[in-house]
Amino acid sequence: MSARLNLVVLGKQGAGKGTQCKRLVDDYAIPQISTGDILRAAVKAGSPLGKEVSGVLESGGLVSDELVNKLVLDRMNQDDAKRGALFDGFPRTLNQAEALDALLGDDGVKLVLNLDVSTDLVTERLSSRRVCQECGTIYRDSDIEAISGTCEKCGGDVIQRADDQPEAIRKRLDLYERDTAPLLAFYEKRGLLVTVNGDQTPEQVTTAIRQVVSERGLA
Ligand code: AP5
Ligand code: MG
Repeated sequence: MSARLNLVVLGKQGAGKGTQCKRLVDDYAIPQISTGDILRAAVKAGSPLGKEVSGVLESGGLVSDELVNKLVLDRMNQDDAKRGALFDGFPRTLNQAEALDALLGDDGVKLVLNLDVSTDLVTERLSSRRVCQECGTIYRDSDIEAISGTCEKCGGDVIQRADDQPEAIRKRLDLYERDTAPLLAFYEKRGLLVTVNGDQTPEQVTTAIRQVVSERGLA
């Protein structure tokens, strides 16, 4: 089997990780593994996991490393991840980064893309974000009228995420600085980190990412 294409997408909340990963899955024929999407799906399904984490998600806190590491391990064991994955929202602590190394073994992380966007801009983006409750498609509040509040892809209800309220946004961004920003130095030391300007159109950001992946001979 050829080496796996394991790409990590880092960035503040609202930097565009989900937006970019959804655009790149077809290009590289690897799945997006979004721990946030997996956790929100569990909350929506009312499963034991969902009941355990719903309060943490709503307040903008972080779910335990142990639980998230286990979710990613299970997800990576599914067939569609045999060629690699786009990791969205994972890892976001040093403990998770070390767990990912252990999980990937010799294949390892191939590239870490850091979507760089200012705190003011991500705060504005999160406040105006809307998402499909069924399939996770991402919209902005200005799109809602045109789509009459229902998802163009699946017809699901388009809603505001519970953690996109001002207090939860502040908490999430504080946690980013405390727990996730140290990962930039962690990956930079290994020569894996590439910072991409996230304050461009989604199309321009995708083009910049594709260029880096290609320059590194990864795809
Ligand atoms: P998660 O779902 O990962 O949320 P997050 O980290 O807060 O990141 P976001 O999804 O808010 O931002 P994004 O970068 O994906 O931005 P998006 O593309 O949507 O996690 C949710 C929660 O789950 C966590 O708070 C935690 O409780 C738990 N959790 C998840 N993973 C965990 C882990 N590993 N460990 C512990 N707990 C974990 O874009 C945002 C908006 O901007 C959208 O409206 C979009 O349309 C717009 N936009 C995007 N790009 C552009 C652009 N280029 N120009 C203009 N607008 C843009
Ligand atoms: Mg996201």
